[in-house]
Amino acid sequence: MRLQDKVAIITGAGSGQGEASAYLFAKEGAKVVVAEWNEEAGSRVAQKIVKEGGDALFIKVDVSNEDEVRAMVEETVRHYGQIDVLFNNAAIGYSATSRYKMDSLLETPLKDWNAILGINLNGAYLVSKYVLPIMIKQNRGSIINNSSMNGMIGVSGADAYTAAKGGIVSLTRVMAVDYGKHGIRVNCICPGAIDTPMIANALEIPGFREASAACPIGRIGQPEDIGNAALFLATDEASYITGVILPVDGGWSAT
Ligand SMILES: NC(=O)c1ccc[n+]([C@@H]2O[C@H](COP(=O)([O-])OP(=O)(O)OC[C@H]3O[C@@H](n4cnc5c(N)ncnc54)[C@H](O)[C@@H]3O)[C@@H](O)[C@H]2O)c1
Repeated sequence: MRLQDKVAIITGAGSGQGEASAYLFAKEGAKVVVAEWNEEAGSRVAQKIVKEGGDALFIKVDVSNEDEVRAMVEETVRHYGQIDVLFNNAAIGYSATSRYKMDSLLETPLKDWNAILGINLNGAYLVSKYVLPIMIKQNRGSIINNSSMNGMIGVSGADAYTAAKGGIVSLTRVMAVDYGKHGIRVNCICPGAIDTPMIANALEIPGFREASAACPIGRIGQPEDIGNAALFLATDEASYITGVILPVDGGWSAT
């Protein structure tokens, strides 16, 4: 029970890495807020946790909407009285190409650029902006931001996504510097290719899965690979770790 009595908000916990993290956190004793804009997915995850004997609350929120974020944080505090962990995980990516143009800079209209940055970068800023004052009052907290290997190198073809993920890396460092004195740790995970709905379309392209598995560990990542890293960073086992940018990519970035 490594997160016994801790309250954890996980954004985008209705699918993929956020969902896997929600189950892992709950199994370790955390009370989990499933903060998700997809109502069906979010309530399914929260119900599953409760059915298995855990404690979870689904709150519908679009992380790019300030009023909704404020309301989500207020509801968390009303319900659980504290916030110990925040996993800024929600994002849109390659699966959102029907709504947003995921392309190179010249091909990206400003409205799509703004929408992608609005969720993938501003979302982490906004949720942190409302959670941090509570963590400061408690004088403790762990924030984990989910970036990407795109945050570290120039993976072409989704430039707004990549710029947002680079922003998440920098945001992590500056938050770690600013809020360490309040007992708050801020770390960042950079996943490699992870088998989730976000890249389901891409995985159907012949050769993509094999290319994704061409890393030293020799397989594509699973959502639990990220969940386990987030879990460690959330616990007091990581109490001397802050400002870290952690690739969880099967060694891909080492090559
Ligand atoms: N899958 C990969 O290969 C991969 C690689 C690197 C980084 N990532 C990052 O990992 C994180 C999790 O992605 P995933 O692979 O689990 O994808 P996913 O699509 O399975 O899950 C993302 C979840 O976020 C939710 N979401 C999206 N926008 C939201 C918003 N505005 N408000 C609230 N919820 C919102 C979605 O509804 C979904 O449930 C993302 O930050 C993503 O950029 C993914």
